[in-house]
Amino acid sequence: MHTIDGRTRVCGLMGDPVEHTLSPLIHNTLARDLGHNFVYVPLQVERGQVEEAVRGAWALHLQGMNVTVPHKSAVIPWLKEMDELAEKIGAVNTLVPCRDGYKGYNTDMTGLKRAMESEGIRLCGETVILLGAGGAARAVAFLCAFSGAERVYLLNRTLERAQETASEVNRAFGRDCIMPLPLSGYEKIPDGKYLAVQGTSVGLHPHTEETVIADDAFYEKIHTGYDLIYKPYDTKFMRLVRAHGGRACNGMKMLVYQAIHAYELWNGVEIETAEAEKIIRILKEEMGING
Ligand code: ATR
Repeated sequence: MHTIDGRTRVCGLMGDPVEHTLSPLIHNTLARDLGHNFVYVPLQVERGQVEEAVRGAWALHLQGMNVTVPHKSAVIPWLKEMDELAEKIGAVNTLVPCRDGYKGYNTDMTGLKRAMESEGIRLCGETVILLGAGGAARAVAFLCAFSGAERVYLLNRTLERAQETASEVNRAFGRDCIMPLPLSGYEKIPDGKYLAVQGTSVGLHPHTEETVIADDAFYEKIHTGYDLIYKPYDTKFMRLVRAHGGRACNGMKMLVYQAIHAYELWNGVEIETAEAEKIIRILKEEMGING
C-alpha cells in the first residue's frame, strides 16, 4: 500500500454492520495496483446518524463514500444531486463529491450491467425472468426497464410485493414492461429460452442446498441464469441451470464492478478488464475458492 501521508485521500463504507465487507480489500488493492495515494476504510454508522455521517464526511473532505444496508435509501435526503438511475431506484450506494456536497449513484446496478456485458449478456430488447421483489430484485427491475428490456416476468413468493414493484417501475418508465406473477407463474411464461436473474435471498450461505424454484420445467426455460448471490460461489440455482443446458453466473463480478465503478467515479480513471479479473482472483482466494 502507498504510504499514508498528508495527501492521502480517504473513502469509506458507511453501513451497519460493516465488519464482513470485502470492499476495503477491493479498493485498497486497486489503489495499490494503480499507485494512487488513496485509502478505503469501513465506517460503522448507526440508524438515525445518517445525516451527521454525510455532513461529517463532507466536512472531513472525504473523497467519497459507499453506502450499504440499512442506509441506501435513508441517505438520499442528505445529498445535493442524484444520478438519474439511482433516483428512479430510490437507493444509493456511492457518494461522489459535487458542488456543496455529494451526488448519489447506484453502482450496484451499473456494476451488474457491466458484469453482464462482460459475459456478453445484454438487457436491451431482452425478455427477462426475475426472481424476487426485495431490495436487490427491485433494483434489477429498474435496471431492466432503464436498459430497454422488452419485458420482465417478476416472480415473487408474495404476489402483492411483486405487484407493488411492477406498478412502481412501470409508472416510472411510462410503459408496462414488468409483469408481476407468483412463483408458480413460470408455467404461464410462453415456451422459449430466457435470461433469468435470481434476486431472492434463497440459497445464500449457509443454506446452500435451497433454491427458490425446484421444478425442472422452470429451468428448461433458461438460456442464462444469473444469480446475484456470490456466497456460495456455486449456488443450487446455478447448478440446476447448468443441468438443463444453460449458462450460469454468480454475483461476484457484480460485486467487483460495483466497486470498480465507484472507484472510477472517485478517482477519474478507467479500470481495465485485466485489473477486474485480478481482483476477482484475489477475492476467490480470500473466500477459499479454488479454480
Ligand atoms: P434483499 O434486500 O436481499 O433483496 P429482502 O428485501 O428481504 O432482501 O428480500 C428477500 C427476497 O427473497 C424477497 O423477494 C423474498 O420474498 P417475499 O417478498 O415473499 O418475502 C424472497 N424470499 C426470502 N425467503 C424466501 C423463501 N423461503 N421462499 C421464497 N422467496 C423467499
